[in-house]
Amino acid sequence: MELQHATQLRGALAVPGDKSISHRAVMFGAIAEGTTEITNFLQGADCLSTISCFQKMGISIENQSGHIFVKGKGLHGLTSPAGALDVGNSGTTARLLSGILAGQPFASSLDGDASIRTRPMKRILDPLTSMGAKVSSANGNGCAPLTFLPAKLLGISYSSPVASAQVKSCLLLAGLYADGETSVTEPTLSRNHTELMLAAFGANIRARGTTVSVQPNPRLMSQKIQAPGDISSAAYFIAAGLLTPDAEILIQNVGVNPTRDGVLTVARAMGGRIQTLNMRTVSGEPVCDLLVQTSQLHGTSIGGDLIPALIDEIPILAVLAAFAEGATVIRDAAELKVKESNRIVSTTENLKRMGADVIPTDDGMVINGNPDKLHGADFESYFDHRIAMSFAVAALAIKDPCTISDASCVTISYPTFYQDLAGLITRR
Ligand code: S3P
Repeated sequence: MELQHATQLRGALAVPGDKSISHRAVMFGAIAEGTTEITNFLQGADCLSTISCFQKMGISIENQSGHIFVKGKGLHGLTSPAGALDVGNSGTTARLLSGILAGQPFASSLDGDASIRTRPMKRILDPLTSMGAKVSSANGNGCAPLTFLPAKLLGISYSSPVASAQVKSCLLLAGLYADGETSVTEPTLSRNHTELMLAAFGANIRARGTTVSVQPNPRLMSQKIQAPGDISSAAYFIAAGLLTPDAEILIQNVGVNPTRDGVLTVARAMGGRIQTLNMRTVSGEPVCDLLVQTSQLHGTSIGGDLIPALIDEIPILAVLAAFAEGATVIRDAAELKVKESNRIVSTTENLKRMGADVIPTDDGMVINGNPDKLHGADFESYFDHRIAMSFAVAALAIKDPCTISDASCVTISYPTFYQDLAGLITRR
């Protein structure tokens, strides 16, 4: 696909609903009693995979173009699926669903696409096994396909070596089906949507610092959930606004949960002009509008406890760094290697293609900003939605023509991404 260059961006847009929140609302709605209504649900392929997995387990889910009705059957209402549950490309579906499947009285299996079959599941298999779960990797390589047999679960206190909301959520969900309390401690607090939303559904869940504990066997009750716009999707427009020579754009209805908003901290530290307007709370999550204006950017350092709050935004922050003055160092981000693609490789290879001075490291990368040397390139998406969107934004700021392979992979999290970006471009 040919990508567009722009010198002026104007207008307002609302990005689609939050992916993490959309997944959780369907899952928790399915194991709650009554009909959970979700508005602004993300109609991306990943969230549709979650819907279809629960439909296969007997849950009626109506999808009226982003307005979702999940007819929950309570904690013990799921039924045995015919055949493997297909999570597609979705790591969140795979890992959270595993926590639920581990506690079911029926056997099941879960599988996904080629990328899912390479993503590490040992990080959930080990603690689930400690809880008594009968779960295994069918090919013995610690990856999907995974199989589950009925088992009696016991709550554990688990100290996770990685700050991962997917691991944390998996174990908390298994904990709903266990005897005794389950608690998870992580090295740094990862996104806390599970804690917030499970509490709203009626679970007895307590978070203190980086430890969260849940009591088993709650009576979960249906909720009305309005998903805020996804800050991970807003990040591409924030970057586009900052990089375009003449830009002023308003991104409306963006979720700014502090466990997710590291992209704002870093973009501002780089000199980005981003105003937070109209701050409010929607379905227990902080939400605002963001006004973004053209900015002169400089390099920065990204690492430590901030990483989990911006892990999905590192590819687009790396693009910003290539256009900034001076060096940007990204460290403590080895998790990038196990995302939809190895994002240290996919990001740095694409940056090199456009003439950026970048050195990949074991846990991140070093980028020496050199905006004058950047040039047109044929990018590769590596079938990774976030890589495709990051380099579509890079192309916007590069004067020469650029292309990207397999551009349609953006359907995973943002089906209308290219149209929404084109809608802001002003032609002079
Ligand atoms: C997610 C958690 C993150 C993130 C992913 C969505 C979630 O993964 O990268 O896109 O919804 O829980 P990890 O928690 O494994 O870092």
